[in-house]
Amino acid sequence: MSTAASHSSRTSMPSLGTAVVTGASSGIGAVYADRLARRGYDLVLVARDAARLTVLADRLARETGVRTEVLQADLTNPADRARVEQRLQSDASVTLLLNNAGMAVSGTFLESDIDAVERMIALNVVAPTRLAAAVAKGFAARKAGTLINIASVLALVPEMFSGTYSGTKAYVLNLSKSLQAELGRHGVRVQAVLPGATRTEIWDRAGTPIAHLPQEMLMDVDTMVDAALAGLDQGEEVTIPSLEAVHEWTALEDARRALGPFLSLRDPARRYLAAAVA
Ligand SMILES: NC(=O)c1ccc[n+]([C@@H]2O[C@H](COP(=O)([O-])OP(=O)(O)OC[C@H]3O[C@@H](n4cnc5c(N)ncnc54)[C@H](OP(=O)(O)O)[C@@H]3O)[C@@H](O)[C@H]2O)c1
Repeated sequence: MSTAASHSSRTSMPSLGTAVVTGASSGIGAVYADRLARRGYDLVLVARDAARLTVLADRLARETGVRTEVLQADLTNPADRARVEQRLQSDASVTLLLNNAGMAVSGTFLESDIDAVERMIALNVVAPTRLAAAVAKGFAARKAGTLINIASVLALVPEMFSGTYSGTKAYVLNLSKSLQAELGRHGVRVQAVLPGATRTEIWDRAGTPIAHLPQEMLMDVDTMVDAALAGLDQGEEVTIPSLEAVHEWTALEDARRALGPFLSLRDPARRYLAAAVA
């Protein structure tokens, strides 16, 4: 089911347009909603838990004066998702999409509940792809817009957690890089945010109690979002909030690009030639 409700008590702050925030009912999405409202964005808040969204929407409308709207949707449900897509396609006031809603599954591949993995792929991969597609044409036509995709550092280190979860986040990172090149030519900004472990409900929801994590690895959610927004303000395409040595990231990217000329050639590498193997 999908419902919408509006809340507004605008005062004098000029609007920066409307930000659509998925997964706004808790954690990273709820903090982004707070920060974006304080920057002057009107908000469309998307998640399944309409009661939590409404409490947040009411508070932000009251405290900041922006217009807030609740759009209840289960983004794994095609009919619900289509309503959000429709909104993104038809509302020219939308200037920012935050693809944040996500879930994790814990455990090994052999132990995994494949139905839960499929739901995760629907939420972490299919939904942000379809929502990005829904908003991208309008952004490109208007030569403006910001797309923020929440990936994860696990996109870079699949050995550290579930391979299926990290795979969904590697997808988000790759899609973001590709869209940076394609949409960037049309004046659209695309940022991929790669949080490390962040203190939110996702851990308990996935059955990995947050208390079991080394505390020095855990960032508070407000700190994470503020760092990610600082990265956006600095024009970063990929933001890794805890990475001090940013040259390490640049070096990785340089090494990856250096492979480019050698990855698709007519001939196999010499070590694969029959004569070499014999
Ligand atoms: N916390 C971390 O350590 C960490 C690290 C790296 C990346 N991330 C990523 O950050 C993003 C936000 O996660 P979080 O840490 O803030 O976790 P969270 O507190 O569990 O928030 C997840 C959000 O997604 C929404 N959601 C879940 N299933 C949904 C569905 N089927 N349809 C629509 N919305 C749904 C939830 O709302 P409802 O339950 O109301 O639907 C909630 O608002 C995710 O993409 C996650 O993969 C998190």
